[in-house]
Amino acid sequence: MGKLDGRVAVVTGGSSGIGAGAARHLRDEGAQVCITDVNAPDDGGGLMFLDHDVSSADAWRRVHDRVVAEFGRVDVLVNNAGIFLPGMIADISLEVWNRTLAVNQTGILLGMQTFADVLEESGRGSIVNMSSYAGMQGHGTSVGYQAAKWAVRGMTRFAAREFAPRGIRVNAVVPGFVDTPMMAAGGKELRDTVVRRTPLGRLGDVTDIAYAISYLSGDESAFVTGTEIVVDGGMLA
Ligand SMILES: NC(=O)c1ccc[n+]([C@@H]2O[C@H](COP(=O)([O-])OP(=O)(O)OC[C@H]3O[C@@H](n4cnc5c(N)ncnc54)[C@H](O)[C@@H]3O)[C@@H](O)[C@H]2O)c1
Repeated sequence: MGKLDGRVAVVTGGSSGIGAGAARHLRDEGAQVCITDVNAPDDGGGLMFLDHDVSSADAWRRVHDRVVAEFGRVDVLVNNAGIFLPGMIADISLEVWNRTLAVNQTGILLGMQTFADVLEESGRGSIVNMSSYAGMQGHGTSVGYQAAKWAVRGMTRFAAREFAPRGIRVNAVVPGFVDTPMMAAGGKELRDTVVRRTPLGRLGDVTDIAYAISYLSGDESAFVTGTEIVVDGGMLA
């Protein structure tokens, strides 16, 4: 028996990194999983894949309708898709700012809005939103990313209160630095610095984050809503 037997999960940004790892983990726990992404996966592990830009309300509606047509229900929405575009306040362009917020913040609003009805019907709906260590402190190299990841935590708490009467729980996961293509883009110097600054002395693995997502998806977290789980090797300590 898997912990998530009988559940259906949608994982955005599921073609790579944390999303891909989480999708496989939820599948291994017994869930039927649909991954969505702007890029098709190299190896989707046999999971349903839908082409989806999370910043588009129309695209969200299409994903909703396709998943409901395929599985008849949705129990878990993992709002994982995200982009990192550097930019300090002094020089960030409005284009970069707007795109960062469109994907990392508005995408999560649209996901929660679009899937609330079917998550309510589930009777045990759970939304897991992806924040970041960048949403817990002020140090960073992208004001847009930082702002959006703080906003994710705020929206998560707001949604938890709004959706509690509908039986939907809403929580966030706050990863530290995780070994993914997004992290690799920062280069070896960033990697070495991060490992030095992390008390547990390593980068996170996608599996470290998948365990937190799985916990928040299922019944073990039935009394947990409106909060976040930090998975950062002690960095924020
Ligand atoms: N890797 C880290 O160190 C780290 C740390 C903290 C938080 N995060 C967050 O975790 C999430 C996943 O990051 P990752 O490291 O796996 O990155 P990644 O780049 O490996 O994966 C992100 C995925 O999102 C997809 N994506 C990008 N824009 C999209 C859009 N508009 N619509 C749908 N999909 C889109 C990409 O194609 C990619 O498959 C992100 O929200 C990121 O901000 C990552």
